[in-house]
Amino acid sequence: MTEYNKLVRVGIYIICVFILMTSCKKDVGQEQELVIEFGIHDTPQIPENYYDYENAYIVPEHFNTDPLLTLIYANIEPENNPITNAGAALGRVLFYDQKLSINNEIACASCHIQEHAFSDPRQNSIGVFGQMSDRNSMGFQNLKYSRRMFRDLRINGLENQIEVPIQNIAEMGISMEDLVTKLSGVAYYSPLVQDAFGSQEWTAERISFALSQFIRSITTFNSKYDQGIQNGFNNFSEMELAGKELFFGGDFRCNHCHTTQNFFSPQAMNNGLDTMYVDQGQFLATGEVSDIGLFKVPSLRNIALTAPYMHDGRFSDVEEVLEHYSIGVQPHPNLNDRITVEITTGGSPFLINMTDQEKIQLIAFLNTLTDLEMISDEKFANPFYY
Ligand code: HEC
Ligand code: HEC
Repeated sequence: MTEYNKLVRVGIYIICVFILMTSCKKDVGQEQELVIEFGIHDTPQIPENYYDYENAYIVPEHFNTDPLLTLIYANIEPENNPITNAGAALGRVLFYDQKLSINNEIACASCHIQEHAFSDPRQNSIGVFGQMSDRNSMGFQNLKYSRRMFRDLRINGLENQIEVPIQNIAEMGISMEDLVTKLSGVAYYSPLVQDAFGSQEWTAERISFALSQFIRSITTFNSKYDQGIQNGFNNFSEMELAGKELFFGGDFRCNHCHTTQNFFSPQAMNNGLDTMYVDQGQFLATGEVSDIGLFKVPSLRNIALTAPYMHDGRFSDVEEVLEHYSIGVQPHPNLNDRITVEITTGGSPFLINMTDQEKIQLIAFLNTLTDLEMISDEKFANPFYY
């Protein structure tokens, strides 16, 4: 490089730093308005020795020996983007950074809140410029077992999903290209990107990869239920034991759809919410009439923390959900066979008619799926705050 070129580069660099500093000042002003949610630091506080995110790969026996879960996982784990401590640490900063939106006001964490197991307690989330999302934001954990993303399963693979909220004009509203340029000017990212990917450049792929690593590292394996599996459930109350029996016993059929140790299904299903669907679910992704009213079967882990419930957040508590399965299941040509009397798709709705006592027992059991460690773990918390 000639001296002249070097001078030009240094000049450009100085101009860039100047622009960055002035634009940062503006950001700080805007962040202060949202200080309760987004904390007190202008730069993220990351420990010099990164937290251990790679331990997400250490899974307890009952997950490893669950045949369906093992099969699902074997098909999903992306070989080109394994979790590393540096990569997930970078993903954590991105997840909480309001700079990921066009107006510096919305972060992923605006709609995915740790204490709610990364869901949003509002029925509809608020994106940039006060716009409301059509669907209820979903919580997440153990997403290493999910290949198809969103309530209608329209996206294949977490890495491909990340760009959707960033570019969606109602969520964060910024193109990946503009975001790459924007982040390239943010000094606190340079060492993190270097550690995570071996050089300091930003690319759209690196944004998706780092966020995916962070999200995939969010696991829950240590609820009261998990401890129960390991000690013969001698930590369970009578009530919780009775609820467990109802859940798995067969008569209530909950575990026919909320399956495996992850209490979910990789398929979308119609659980009889409506005779006519306003939001047509998986049909919107596939155009198949037989997919109208089918939605992702969410994991019931941490369910006590993720109200309101269903794709549109129509039920404000678990009691209302149980009322649905008890007496509210609606007929529909696509009603899943697991929830019909005849066990045929579109058959008559199977109604449990639960007693009040059974509802209380079932709720007691569902509460054992809560993992307080996950929602208070600092490695998943806001680095601009802690
Ligand atoms: C404005 C609110 C909002 C913002 C901001 C937002 N999300 Fe979401 N997120 C949602 C909603 C709503 C859904 C469900 C959408 C659907 O099913 O169509 C969702 C779904 C998801 C899912 C799918 C989970 C599953 O089990 O299929 C993931 C993962 C996710 N978001 C990650 C992110 C990440 C990463 C960011 C930041 C880059 C982000 N979200 C930003 C509202 C938001
Ligand atoms: C036919 C399959 C099926 C059966 C049987 C079933 N569910 Fe569901 N469940 C679903 C689907 C699909 C959804 C998501 C629907 C939506 O998003 O609109 C869901 C959602 C839920 C939710 C809300 C999750 C959330 O994050 O919004 C809870 C709680 C729940 N089910 C509990 C139960 C219980 C308890 C039972 C047994 C009494 C049960 N389910 C039986 C398929 C089923």
